[in-house]
Amino acid sequence: RRIDLVGIATAAGASVRGCGMGPEALRVAGLAEALLELEHEVVDHGDLRRPHPLLDATPASQRLPDERRRDVLDLASRVSDQGLAILDAGHFPVFLGGDHSIAMGTVSAVARHCTAQGKPVFVLWIDAHADFNTPDTSPTGNLHGMPLALLCGEPGFSDEFQGAWLGRIDPRQVSIIGARSVDREERKLLSARGVEVLDMRKIDESGVVSLMRTLLARVKAVGGHLHVSLDLDAMDPSIAPGGGTLVPGGLSYREAHLIMEMLHDSGLVGSLDVVELNPFLDHGGTSATLLVDLVASLFGRTIMGEAAGPVEFVTED
Ligand code: ARG
Ligand code: MN
Ligand code: MN
Ligand code: MN
Repeated sequence: RRIDLVGIATAAGASVRGCGMGPEALRVAGLAEALLELEHEVVDHGDLRRPHPLLDATPASQRLPDERRRDVLDLASRVSDQGLAILDAGHFPVFLGGDHSIAMGTVSAVARHCTAQGKPVFVLWIDAHADFNTPDTSPTGNLHGMPLALLCGEPGFSDEFQGAWLGRIDPRQVSIIGARSVDREERKLLSARGVEVLDMRKIDESGVVSLMRTLLARVKAVGGHLHVSLDLDAMDPSIAPGGGTLVPGGLSYREAHLIMEMLHDSGLVGSLDVVELNPFLDHGGTSATLLVDLVASLFGRTIMGEAAGPVEFVTED
């Protein structure tokens, strides 16, 4: 399978700086090499960057929201066009964030591609958060908390957010897994729109296997395209410390790998985001290495397979 890597080096949607370095950390952790070892073909397109570098003394978190919004939207439209070209060429795009606002562009690309083919789009959002706020409900104003709401057609986004680049998805075909931090107004929207929220309690009670089987069966029944959006903070902070919005009580190493392995075996996944890795906050590459290993599982690495096992690492504390 040919896999196309696209880095989106930005933190414009976040309040904590540093995840703009995410794509490079994933490369250093050996992402392309892990995929090559699994006998995939890999093409790295390098990074898209935000047009307004931070050159003044204002802390990133206090930058004019207008400017950060323009950067998010500029990137979203470029990502959407580039993603669409990759999908139309029959390749598998892996989008390397960057904060989660990049999914405005990545999922748009998938929606545009699949709509033209009459293929239903399903999204699996692996995240501690639901990212279903709108500018009206968001407690922070940070755009990485809003991509799913925009993509699902929520009102409340200004005209600036609309454009030929924007693709739409059906909220009833979105599943969020790993959630444990959902804002009050966001919760109401999620249930009103019928988004499936497989939160940590459901995982504790049912286990990831039964939840994933049900979800995958739904996608398979209608021949859908499954887009996976993997936010680092879905995993427990003890194994994934390199993020700006960590929440305790996340997916274990075993649960996260099992999800990836089941996704691989299903053969239904056609596109992937890997987001919110902040190398500045990471502990010696622990989180970057975890993400590379998870992506390898999604692309077919198995414990007893022919490819080498995960790289061993020692945690610092
Ligand atoms: N719900 C919070 C907000 O709207 C946090 C979102 C965090 N999102 C993320 N992609 N890390 O600001
Ligand atoms: Mn997220
Ligand atoms: Mn998150
Ligand atoms: Mn530390």
